[in-house]
Formats: sequence, C-alpha cells, structure tokens
Amino acid sequence: MANVAVIGAQWGDEGKGKLVDWLSERADVIVRFQGGHNAGHTLVIDGTTYKLHALPSGVVRRGKLSIIGNGVVLDPWHLIREIEGLRGQGVDITPETLMIAENTPLILPFHGELDRARESQTSVARIGTTGRGIGPAYEDKVGRRVIRVADLADRRTLSLRVDRALTHHNALRSGLGLTAIDRDALIAELEAVAPQILPYAKPVWKELDQARRRGRRILFEGAQGALLDIDFGTYPYVTSSNVVAGQAATGSGMGPDAVDFVLGIVKAYTTRVGEGPFPTELDDADGARLGTRGHEFGTTTGRQRRCGWFDACLVRQTAAISGMHGIALTKLDVLDGFDRLRICVAYDLDGERLDHLPTASEAQARCVPIYEEMDGWSDSTRGARSWADLPAGAIKYVRRVEELIGCPVALLSTSPEREDTILVTDPFRD
Ligand code: GDP
Ligand code: IMO
Ligand code: MG
Repeated sequence: MANVAVIGAQWGDEGKGKLVDWLSERADVIVRFQGGHNAGHTLVIDGTTYKLHALPSGVVRRGKLSIIGNGVVLDPWHLIREIEGLRGQGVDITPETLMIAENTPLILPFHGELDRARESQTSVARIGTTGRGIGPAYEDKVGRRVIRVADLADRRTLSLRVDRALTHHNALRSGLGLTAIDRDALIAELEAVAPQILPYAKPVWKELDQARRRGRRILFEGAQGALLDIDFGTYPYVTSSNVVAGQAATGSGMGPDAVDFVLGIVKAYTTRVGEGPFPTELDDADGARLGTRGHEFGTTTGRQRRCGWFDACLVRQTAAISGMHGIALTKLDVLDGFDRLRICVAYDLDGERLDHLPTASEAQARCVPIYEEMDGWSDSTRGARSWADLPAGAIKYVRRVEELIGCPVALLSTSPEREDTILVTDPFRD
C-alpha cells in the first residue's frame, strides 16, 4: 500500500493539476490539504479543459472520493459556483463523491475585501496576492475567530462566531476606512449557503482512517509551491499556509507516516506570479519565448507569469524540505527548439558562492545566478509518451536536472493532455 503526496516544488503552477488527475486513476481518495481557491489547476482531457480552484483535481474521474481537508480555507459561495460550473461540463459531484472536513475554516466576503484593500495600499505592503481572502482567513484561523464549516449547522453558535469575528474586523476596518460589516446580513447569507454546504460536511479524519485501514490508496494534492510556503518560501512574498509535504498529514487529519511517497512537481524552467525575488528571471527574448510557448498566464487571475531558467539550487532545497522521493518534470516541450539552455547551479552573493537561497529577502534579491550552459535540442518532445521518443538532448537535460537536485524523475509531462505523460517509476508502487 502506498499513499502519495503531490507537492509544487517551485512558485506554483508547475502542472500539479495535470499530474494529480493522471495519478488519480491509480488512487481511491484525493485530498486537498491546504490553500484555497487561490489555486488554479488546469486539466486537459481529450481536448476538454477543466479549471479547478477549490476542488481536488481527482473530482473529474468517476468512482473516486474527493476530500477538502481541514488545512484548506474554503469560500462556500465560490465552491457552489465551482461545483455548478463542473456539473455544466458533465462532472458528477455529490455528497458521495465529495466530502468537506467539518473543521475547515470559511473564507467570508470581508476576507477578500481586506486582502484587496491591503493590496491596493502602498507598494511596500504589496505581495501580489490573488485577492481571494486567503491570508485574512488563515489569520482568523490562527487568531481563533474564524467560522468553520461545522458552525453553519447551529444558529446560535453561528451568531456567536460572527460576533467574535466582527469585534476584530470592524475595529480593523475602521482603521482602513472601510465601513462596518452588516452583522445580520452576513448571518442571513451564511444561513442561506449552509444547506448547500452541510451535506458534504464529514469528520474527514475518520473517513481517511477507515479508507486507510481498508487499504485504499490516498493521493494528497498540494496547491501552490514550496517557495510560497509560509515558513520556507520567499517570505513575506508567500501564501499564508504551509504547502510542504509535512502539511499533508496535518491538513487532512492523518499521522506523519500516512505519506509513503512525496512527488515534487517541477517545471522544466521557472515561473512566478506576484511580487518577490526570482534570481533566474529573464527580461529578454528567451523569457518572452518561455512565456509564449508555455502559455504562462495565471489560471486564477489571468496575470502574466514571470519566466526564467531552471533553478536547480531552489529545487534541490525544496526537495530536501519536503523529503521528495521523486519528481514529475513538466513542460519539457516548452524548451524544444532553444539553441542553448541555462540551468542555475549556485548563486553569487557579494562574491561568495552559495549553494542555497539565503533566508533574508534582501539577500535573496541580491543573489546572482551562476549558470551552467547546455545545448538545446531541435526535435519535438511535444506529446511524447515514452522515454524512447525523447531526443538525446532532452534526455541529457533531464539527467542533469536529476543530478543537480539530487532526486530522480518518476514522471515526465510533454503537453497539457492527460495522456501525454511518461511514467518512469510508479509512485504508488506496492
Ligand atoms: P498547477 O497550478 O500546478 O496545477 O498548474 P497550472 O494548471 O496552473 O499551470 C500549468 C499549465 O501548464 C496548465 O495550463 C497546464 O495545462 C499546462 N501543462 C501541464 N503540463 C504541461 C506540459 O507538460 N507541457 C505543456 N506545454 N503544458 C503543460
Ligand atoms: P497553484 O496551486 C502560483 C501566489 C500569489 C501571490 C502569493 C500570495 O495554482 O500553483 P495569496 O492569494 O495566496 O495570498 O497570494 O502566492 N500564489 C500562487 N502562485 N500558483 C498558485 O497556486 C498560487 N497561489 C498563490 O500570486 O504571489
Ligand atoms: Mg496553478
């Protein structure tokens, strides 16, 4: 029996959704364990595109159980819209196929408002968030004033929880020049959405324990990427949750040994959305070519993603922090046709060679990449489904990546299509 955790190894958008969908054929249960609808996971199945934000990417497959774990922050109104949208695409979602942990914190409208108000302030405060209220909702969770799914079931509890949250938020809003929240209107909105959410609410930890005892295979789906992790990312330009593999257990209600294989999803180059340091960022024709060939526009906000060369230093670091057993290298096809490719192998910081990204953001911003150059390849890897279909130059690149990050390639992805995937080692090995 093997359970697998899928983790983004860079700044998100590595292709986690595609790989989770592909792997979920082999899994019984798919669990999201952190983040919220800041995530944007794109699946392409026989030419049809599905965009998932709050729902696990296993939801499109029949006969699988999808779970939203307690480590997620959930906007109930968004969830209902996302479910409706997918139903419109013929995806069946019922309380038999989707469960939400009862202890999941809710994102409320004032969280999004606060997030956007902060982002529109001075440039010093800007993180470049998705504006979806993720940070403020996690702040309320840790501040012990968030409203959780289970609170929707009881009118009295709900009204007490709302008062607790508003005591804090109305004081904050007055400082920001925002109007006070209409308590009764908010309670009415929550009471209206409750019957649409509560049928999915379950003690998820128990369901997962039972699934595990019955030998079911569990796939943990991470959102964002390790460099956006609240502890290990490029702080403060990060998201507000732990996204590293250790969170899979806490964010779903299982023990630390629940994960047998940590699969890092690694883009064959690097991208980032929002503000913050990015040592290998390219501001030239190569960067533009990566963006165009890779269609690097955000699934959630439509923002153009910043692009740069592959940074082996960063991935070596995130592979260690998440204890990755293997990686899925994605978007290799985007590198087709480059004459020369560069890989960052270390940084120069004020004349000193560093083999990892320093912690202080000011030092991160001053890191100058030290590159290794490789010949590109002229043949296409697009749509390759076996190792034998790859040009020698591409194989050399993949081997060099493995060597530099100290972690083997378990899967390769060569287009957005589900089946354009090469399996090297099965993460669900028995
Ligand atoms: P996620 O957030 O990690 O799930 O990644 P996104 O879905 O936000 O971004 C990845 C984008 O790349 C999506 O549009 C995918 O359809 C696409 N994609 C995934 N794998 C590949 C690949 O191997 N090659 C190409 N060209 N596109 C890919
Ligand atoms: P997926 O799961 C890429 C980034 C935002 C911003 C920072 C904080 O699709 O890989 P937040 O709204 O979370 O408070 O924003 O994190 N960010 C992502 N970047 N992919 C994501 O998710 C992201 N989720 C958040 O752009 O820089
Ligand atoms: Mg994404």
